[in-house]
Amino acid sequence: EHKKDINGFHKVILREVRGCSAEVYLYGAQVTSWKNEHGEELLFLSSKAIFKPPKAIRGGIPICFPQFGNHGSLEQHGFARNRTWTVDPDPPPFATISHNKAFIDLILKPSEEDAKIWPHRYEFRLRITLGPGGDLMLTSRIRNTNIDGKSFTFTFAYHTYFSVTDISEVRVEGLETLDYLDNLKKRERVTEQGDAITFESEVDKTYLSTPTKIAIIDHERKRTFVLRKDGLPDAVVWNPWDKKAKAIPDFGDDEYKHMLCVEAACVETPITLKPGEEWKGRQELSAVPSSYCSGQ
Ligand code: BG6
Repeated sequence: EHKKDINGFHKVILREVRGCSAEVYLYGAQVTSWKNEHGEELLFLSSKAIFKPPKAIRGGIPICFPQFGNHGSLEQHGFARNRTWTVDPDPPPFATISHNKAFIDLILKPSEEDAKIWPHRYEFRLRITLGPGGDLMLTSRIRNTNIDGKSFTFTFAYHTYFSVTDISEVRVEGLETLDYLDNLKKRERVTEQGDAITFESEVDKTYLSTPTKIAIIDHERKRTFVLRKDGLPDAVVWNPWDKKAKAIPDFGDDEYKHMLCVEAACVETPITLKPGEEWKGRQELSAVPSSYCSGQ
């Protein structure tokens, strides 16, 4: 289902039989909404979000490519999140297709302007699938289409903003005891201590060599988000907390209480593609009542 928002920007709604849905803006190929069968929103989207260029939409799932954060000379998080992508009207039949899945393929190729900032040719295909049961899957396929024989290197993240009831009642499982780069301390390498990851102040950490499954537990809502990933060894955990929240123009002062970014990423070791080569990175999200997950 294709629609336009009040500013005339195109978005696509994916629907699943039980009533789950996802909304995707062509601007940034950004998922801005993911709802369960009760119509409850599962992603955080700022009330101050702006849905048009030149800035990325604050919330949902921005795509960071070809640079995560400030790990390079490009703009913060790369330019893919503030380009308008195109819909592939005739997507190829990868294994993920079956008739009870709603999906869309969005494509990004460099414009002449983009080629000046990052001098490479590529095709980025993002498949967004809403599975039966409402699981949300994002699969990125990035192919080097350079004709000058050059390889290119990039970093990447699915910058997911989860909606949580109260950040001080949230726990993340799967990252205990791992090493992380502390982005608040010039990426100092630290080992995570303690057995539970909870939140009481600003956090901006890049966990390294993480497991393929991470759980985000919202105690108050009795909901667990399960993030599964493939091809993305790192996981960034970010919450700006009160002081930084006030400094972000498109973010409400108190909104930090209701969001947590857990980002499936490839940051520490960038990906290099030779001409003709393709990289695939996948994230799958599900939201389940917490009791289903106890003991995991
Ligand atoms: C996180 C970074 O991924 O994104 C943080 O680790 C950054 O350092 C945050 O502040 C938000 O970035 P932006 O560019 O969307 O404001």
